[in-house]
Amino acid sequence: MKLHGTMRINSQSHLEIGGCDCTELAKDFGTPLYIMDEQLIRENCRGFVRAFSRCYPSIEIVYAGKAFLTTAMAKIIESEGLSLDVVSGGELYTAYSAGFPMDRVYFHGNNKTPEEINMALEYGVGCIVVDNPSELEMLDNTASSMGVRQKVLVRVSPGVAANTHQYIQTGQLDSKFGFPLYRDGAFRAVKRVLASKALAFEGLHCHIGSQITDVSAFCTAAENMLGFAARIRTELEAPVNVLNLGGGFGIYYTKEDRRMLPEDFSEPITSSVKEALARYNLAAPKLMVEPGRYIVGDAGTTLYKVGSVKDIPEVRKYVFVDGGMADNPRPALYHARYRATIANRMEKAEGEKITLAGKCCESGDILLRDIILPEIKSGDLIAVFSTGAYNYSMASNYNRLPKPAVVLVSDGKADLIVKRESYQDVIRNDIIPERLKK
Ligand SMILES: Cc1ncc(COP(=O)(O)O)c(C=O)c1O
Repeated sequence: MKLHGTMRINSQSHLEIGGCDCTELAKDFGTPLYIMDEQLIRENCRGFVRAFSRCYPSIEIVYAGKAFLTTAMAKIIESEGLSLDVVSGGELYTAYSAGFPMDRVYFHGNNKTPEEINMALEYGVGCIVVDNPSELEMLDNTASSMGVRQKVLVRVSPGVAANTHQYIQTGQLDSKFGFPLYRDGAFRAVKRVLASKALAFEGLHCHIGSQITDVSAFCTAAENMLGFAARIRTELEAPVNVLNLGGGFGIYYTKEDRRMLPEDFSEPITSSVKEALARYNLAAPKLMVEPGRYIVGDAGTTLYKVGSVKDIPEVRKYVFVDGGMADNPRPALYHARYRATIANRMEKAEGEKITLAGKCCESGDILLRDIILPEIKSGDLIAVFSTGAYNYSMASNYNRLPKPAVVLVSDGKADLIVKRESYQDVIRNDIIPERLKK
């Protein structure tokens, strides 16, 4: 088992992350437990900044908070100098409560409510990424009535179908996100922004999907977007000062995935951008990218405790853990695959094929199917790797399971950054109407 980040095996054959023994973390904080490796989050941030600034004159890296956002995470992102992409009032409020600089916030989303738009304008977010015609009208009216001049990017669906799971493709024509290039949808949007006194047109945004390792899709998107920028310059005489190519940078989960360094993305993407700029004789815009998964995915590990083991001879051996699709819905949602190990017995031993299943009342609640691990006993601790992105942020209370705690580890210190929910938390918002109390 190849370890990554600050992981190591200590003298007791226990998995250690950020200098903290996983068996101690389980004792101190309970299971299931999300463990976030602070050093690796910071290295991932720096790797992205370094890789893109090396090959392009003006860049801004925007962390996509949807992957994993808490107030402590906002602090890390702020201290690394990244900007922040938020997609809801809740994410915006998290950033605001953490004291994140609002001028570095980008507000996305395909159905921003009037309340969310008001909130964004009151907080003074740096930029709103407009997604559709009715939102554009609402934003223009609200900004005018508040006497605000709001910077905007126009989100374009660039007509690129990235090679990834259908549920995480977003740049194709038939997408719920953005204005299509097709039939001048995006062109009319830019024209409308330029005609507004309350909106300042900064540039263009696109996002083609998630968990992409085929870089050519990003390159095609960049070329299409700059072709569109050339048309805006010629026909509307407006500069595109910002080109935001979104996120979607794929990471290594299992041996089916390619291991990608930030340079594997930055070099081809910036080459395509530079070629297109030369072709269209355009001034270089500021280039932005919005990695989410790449910043936190491999920095997260989920620790579970094994309960029962059920062997159906010649069929399948199920190992049940104390979490499942409520803390990690990705396998059930889009057959996402992971690696795992026995965190309290990292010694090399003969393996057997098992299926790691969660405790939720759904047959689809399988975390890892057909993995090879040494024989597992009840009470063992299983560490599932690379769960930092879209696990905590997608967690639910299905089956009224309290959400797990999140702990940030660094240099032998473990800090709780999200408390474990209690049963009281689970019923906190329940109300029994008077007429049912009798
Ligand atoms: C607009 C936008 N930007 C960035 C991201 C982050 O994607 P990833 O976490 O795959 O990098 C997403 C994810 O869906 C997105 O919709």
